[in-house]
Amino acid sequence: MAKDFSVVVLLSGRGSNFESLAEQAEHFSITKVISNKVKALGLRKASSLGIPIDAFSQKELGSVLAQKEAIYSSALESSPDLIVLAGYMQILEPDFVTKNFGKVINIHPSLLPKYPGLDTHKRAIDNGDTLHGCSVHFVDVEVDTGPVIAQATCAIEPGDTPDSLSQKLLTFEHKLYPWCVNQIAAGEISLGLDRKVSYSPASRQSAKENGFLVSLDVA
Ligand code: GRF
Repeated sequence: MAKDFSVVVLLSGRGSNFESLAEQAEHFSITKVISNKVKALGLRKASSLGIPIDAFSQKELGSVLAQKEAIYSSALESSPDLIVLAGYMQILEPDFVTKNFGKVINIHPSLLPKYPGLDTHKRAIDNGDTLHGCSVHFVDVEVDTGPVIAQATCAIEPGDTPDSLSQKLLTFEHKLYPWCVNQIAAGEISLGLDRKVSYSPASRQSAKENGFLVSLDVA
């Protein structure tokens, strides 16, 4: 049965986070999956689940800006409650981010504010870190910034490589992201006008039980 809280997913690649969202959607429906890569595997996965898809190629539209405009207008078409970036590898236009602040979230494979950008696993290993993790955050204009909603941590063990660490972390991502979206959809987590994330007592308890850090733990 369709749920009232609607989510549009933007992705560029294999879409494993999208799949985990689709599988664990308790309080929301994914109404559309959009990509900037027409051949993204995640689009095929969405189609096989019967979720509408849209893809926009830069080549066909003539410029990155035209492609971005087409993607944003498709994303906003049905006035979704939340736009969820799941491995979406294109920087959002500042104007889109500002107008939709609080409505767009992202998952990043590091314990933000550590390691925004690419190669997070390699950077954590090279730095000698023993703890790594992933963060779900509201999207702000600078890449990989914005209020953190929750984080999951994962140990870096001797012998870990960027590949082994990324595989290991992915299992945490697949729990953290659906948890965050379900909590937001159920009204248990929200963003205040002061840009601070608020948590109901139930969501704090649930975060604790799942071993997730919420923003007050991080501060
Ligand atoms: C994940 O590691 C996510 O944290 C990052 O991009 C990757 C996407 O993987 N933003 P997938 O396409 O969801 O499998």
